[in-house]
Amino acid sequence: MAYNLLKGKKGIIFGALDENSIAWKTAQHCYAEGAELVLTNAPIALRMGTINKLAEEINAPVIPADVTSAEDITNLFIKTKEHFGGGVDFILHSIGMSINVRKAIPYPENNYEFTHKGLDISAISLHRVLQMAMKQDAINEWGSVVALTYIAGQRVFPNYNDMADGKAMLESIARNFGYFYGVEKKVRINTVSQSPTRTTAGSGVKGFDGFITYAEKMSPLGNATADQCADYCVSLFSDLTKMVTMQNLFHDGGFSFTGVSQAVIEQMEK
Ligand SMILES: NC(=O)c1ccc[n+]([C@@H]2O[C@H](COP(=O)([O-])OP(=O)(O)OC[C@H]3O[C@@H](n4cnc5c(N)ncnc54)[C@H](O)[C@@H]3O)[C@@H](O)[C@H]2O)c1
Repeated sequence: MAYNLLKGKKGIIFGALDENSIAWKTAQHCYAEGAELVLTNAPIALRMGTINKLAEEINAPVIPADVTSAEDITNLFIKTKEHFGGGVDFILHSIGMSINVRKAIPYPENNYEFTHKGLDISAISLHRVLQMAMKQDAINEWGSVVALTYIAGQRVFPNYNDMADGKAMLESIARNFGYFYGVEKKVRINTVSQSPTRTTAGSGVKGFDGFITYAEKMSPLGNATADQCADYCVSLFSDLTKMVTMQNLFHDGGFSFTGVSQAVIEQMEK
């Protein structure tokens, strides 16, 4: 059901790769709520994924940008401002990548070149996007930025590998930049800490099936789906959450505050 929560708002969605992507669902939900969108992803992802299908469905241009390139991000904001005839009201950062995870290199043996690349793509990219946006005054007053994260940024999930360090840094950047952008232009910046979700990035984590079933059993409400995450993002982009900033918001069916569940106890007693 749509409520026109984003009527008249304009936004940029980073990270829609295929129809499982959380960014893909978020773009669909934002569009259904009345937003106008620009889609972006890395040039290689544009070749591999199916983003043009989404672009057609929601009538949005696709502007390529590798988030490790300041030049690409600058170009993205220039083109987006031309397209909308002004700045944007919201941005979704839905980007994560670890070469150490991809190559199944255990955390204690991480290759630092891969670590640097992973941190650059998964965390520093949020800083880069915000810096370039601020320089070009590309986000309107009372704008909202959301970046997606995972609880491994705060607690240990061994197979999450160096992505955990990336998420800890991402959450910290959201807090710190949230201060500066808040003072400068009343722009709010939050991270949403989502349940494990079956997507290309999610399924890359070793033992994902066990992981997602465990989280389901540990969460009083069960795991949150990508569609439910999209709804939560819509609410954070809307005017109903104007005073929420610099927060890490759990969207995980209660997983983060559950010590143990009866379902897990029963499983252990088998
Ligand atoms: N799937 C889960 O279990 C889960 C849980 C919590 C948080 N998250 C987070 O949600 C976000 C979205 O992931 P997803 O699960 O939808 O997977 P996904 O694989 O669909 O999305 C990841 C996106 O990052 C993009 N990307 C990678 N390198 C890039 C670069 N250099 N420049 C620009 N874009 C680049 C990819 O092209 C892809 O579109 C990530 O931050 C992820 O860590 C996922």
